[in-house]
Amino acid sequence: MDTRRSLRGLALRNGGGGNGRYEERRGEGGERRRAAAVYPTAPADGEERLAGYRVKREPYYRPLGDEVALYESAYALRLPVLLKGPTGCGKTRFVEYMAWRLGRPLITVTCNEDMTAADLVGRFLLDAEGVRWEDGPLTMAVRYGAICYLDEVVEARADTLVVIHAVTDARRILPIEKTGEVLSAHADFQLVVSYNPGYQSLTKDLKPSTKQRFVGLEFGYPPAEVEAEIVAHESGIPLEMAAKLVEIAHRSRNLKGHGLDEGASTRMLIYAGSLIARGVAPATACRMALVHPLTDDPDLAAALEAAVSTYF
Ligand SMILES: Nc1ncnc2c1ncn2[C@@H]1O[C@H](COP(=O)(O)OP(=O)(O)O)[C@@H](O)[C@H]1O
Ligand SMILES: [Mg+2]
Repeated sequence: MDTRRSLRGLALRNGGGGNGRYEERRGEGGERRRAAAVYPTAPADGEERLAGYRVKREPYYRPLGDEVALYESAYALRLPVLLKGPTGCGKTRFVEYMAWRLGRPLITVTCNEDMTAADLVGRFLLDAEGVRWEDGPLTMAVRYGAICYLDEVVEARADTLVVIHAVTDARRILPIEKTGEVLSAHADFQLVVSYNPGYQSLTKDLKPSTKQRFVGLEFGYPPAEVEAEIVAHESGIPLEMAAKLVEIAHRSRNLKGHGLDEGASTRMLIYAGSLIARGVAPATACRMALVHPLTDDPDLAAALEAAVSTYF
């Protein structure tokens, strides 16, 4: 039997020493866990490699419910997490915040349909010294123990995503075909993905075999007062002004399904607020940030403009 494969469930010691050297270490609950430094690479250079991925300052994140505690429970179990919700509602900010809170580096990949398995896993590169292997973002996270965040994961092709299967089930291994390595995930590794179910179509959805490897957290736009607080904080406008922007957003969100794919997001409100904070007239800022990017349809634009002129 391949010893590398037989090590499933065992923790890879952070910065661990020689290959195949076993260590005893206590888990979070005080229980004894057998940890091993696993072939092929002792990640002694892990701290150095991950330094650029550390979240250095606490990101501003306003919790909306018990998502922080729930994420912590999922992380304690190293369960892969799927974040669902409309665009611009705080999913990415939440992951940044959780990475900071858990003290783990965060490696983010924004997925697109041209992405290949090699873009995640790695590739051989030719340089002055010859051919060398370069870990992709997923491999780096698996090897050194980071949180790997695949943003907009449904944009990736299903055959690309198959590479995450073995590392998101109980095996926690990443087979790297090109080098013949079978990498056991570092004890701190976790995979997080996000997507917007609103854009889901038959051609753009995760396969059940992929989805069923995750636990899910659902995100939505925050309650009005909380959203105003976030917009005021992020853009620097007064709370009352932010509250008006949120009202306009609610109007546009009601147009969802009536010609609009999606209403104004929290992100768009922050853009509008930031323009206002810079001195742009509120109605103009709203037109720039909340009307033009949402629709090209003259009737819908007029409906949105009407919402803006109710408040400004
Ligand atoms: N709960 C929240 N706490 C703090 N900021 C938030 C929150 N929700 C949204 N935001 C703000 O909205 C912006 C867009 O959110 P983001 O996380 O990029 O959205 P998503 O990843 O869901 O598309 C963030 O940059 C942040 O300024
Ligand atoms: Mg995002």
